[in-house]
Amino acid sequence: MRHRRAMLIVAAALFVAAGAASSSDRNRTSSLAPAIERAAKGERCVEDTPSMRRNHMRYLEHQRDATVHGGIRGARHSLKGCVDCHASQRTGSVAAQPTDFCTSCHTYAAVKIDCFECHASRPVPAGGGKP
Ligand code: HEC
Ligand code: HEC
Ligand code: HEC
Repeated sequence: MRHRRAMLIVAAALFVAAGAASSSDRNRTSSLAPAIERAAKGERCVEDTPSMRRNHMRYLEHQRDATVHGGIRGARHSLKGCVDCHASQRTGSVAAQPTDFCTSCHTYAAVKIDCFECHASRPVPAGGGKP
């Protein structure tokens, strides 16, 4: 029963996503994806929004190299930072539901990332947890 309800919620979210994509986004070439859940903490992103849309994967890649090979942590483009600001208020995650921040765009763009198999997709409480 509970499972069925969850399925319905997912189905509804997908329906909304599809609707947004077909109605509003068709006419807005500047937009990369349907605006499903874009609420974020903070005044602004770590770079300006157009740069983030275009280049966030490159920033993350550089940050990973800097951390893993250079030992730099807590830096500007950390994945933890993305999660802290962009986690959904409803699900608490950036990638638990189709409507969550990272997933909403990636589903639309047919991008698959494995990052959250290792990294927490939810803000980690101060003092511990996975990287
Ligand atoms: C197999 C496990 C694994 C996967 C998959 C993985 N990472 Fe990591 N990642 C790590 C570990 C371990 C570290 C080192 C953590 C540390 O030393 O703080 C790290 C560090 C990082 C850092 C630097 C620390 C930070 O929070 O900024 C970034 C950025 C990062 N990874 C991004 C990614 C991205 C983007 C993906 C998906 C494309 C990804 N990782 C996939 C294990 C993984
Ligand atoms: C301090 C909080 C904060 C951090 C940290 C942060 N963001 Fe953002 N981000 C925002 C805000 C606020 C916006 C909305 C800006 C706007 O509406 O113009 C945004 C916008 C974005 C956008 C554009 C969304 C859209 O509507 O097209 C992307 C993509 C993005 N962020 C990805 C990331 C990634 C990836 C990281 C980690 C490397 C990150 N953000 C870190 C606050 C943050
Ligand atoms: C505004 C839409 C949008 C948002 C929001 C977004 N992404 Fe992306 N992301 C994309 C698109 C589009 C691509 C594919 C770009 C390409 O292939 O050039 C991508 C690609 C990536 C890649 C590279 C995947 C690969 O296989 O090359 C990573 C890593 C990534 N995103 C991480 C994130 C993370 C983490 C978040 C959430 C914090 C996020 N993205 C939020 C649109 C978005």
